[in-house]
Amino acid sequence: MSPIIRKMKKNDIPNIVFNDRRILGQSLGEETLESELKQNIFSQFFVMEDKATKEFLGHVGLWIDRPLASVLNLYVVPEYQHQGLGKQLMEFVFTYLKRLNISTLTLEVRGSNIVAKAMYQQYGFDEVAIRKQYYSDGEDAVLMLKNIDLRK
Ligand SMILES: CC(C)(COP(=O)(O)OP(=O)(O)OC[C@H]1O[C@@H](n2cnc3c(N)ncnc32)[C@H](O)[C@@H]1OP(=O)(O)O)[C@@H](O)C(=O)NCCC(=O)NCCS
Repeated sequence: MSPIIRKMKKNDIPNIVFNDRRILGQSLGEETLESELKQNIFSQFFVMEDKATKEFLGHVGLWIDRPLASVLNLYVVPEYQHQGLGKQLMEFVFTYLKRLNISTLTLEVRGSNIVAKAMYQQYGFDEVAIRKQYYSDGEDAVLMLKNIDLRK
């Protein structure tokens, strides 16, 4: 398999919404994603797919407001998790943000999401705050922050 990461297009949206819901349990929905794509200069959405087959492998959404950025969504489809694709998404995000001179990246993650927290810690994110009852089911979010070294 050879994964590539490209900008999300309008015809990706139904598939993104389907996968948002099955993997994250929630989605912005088709209408909102479409208007984000058209009108919101701060949000940028990407698709990871297999170069040859175009099979959908994962997704990352970013909110970019220089010099800050946030990860809105990030996932690998369950069928391809634990094969290093999450790390490829992270590497992509850092390379992309460095090109834009973004020096601080934040994200929220469920307190119970051990795998994602381990991955973010591995990439130098620190837990900086708890957002109480952040998720619709009442679970707290951990706010994580990483300062990006723009010299490297
Ligand atoms: C989090 C997620 C993106 C990781 O993607 P992935 O392709 O499965 O991860 P990778 O194979 O690249 O592994 C990345 C790191 O995750 C962590 N990890 C993976 N499996 C783990 C496990 N069973 N226990 C603890 N940490 C684990 C490790 O830090 C791993 O790095 P390592 O292999 O060098 O130890 C993926 O599991 C996912 O999409 N989860 C559901 C959605 C989600 O939780 N998104 C994050 C919301 S904030």
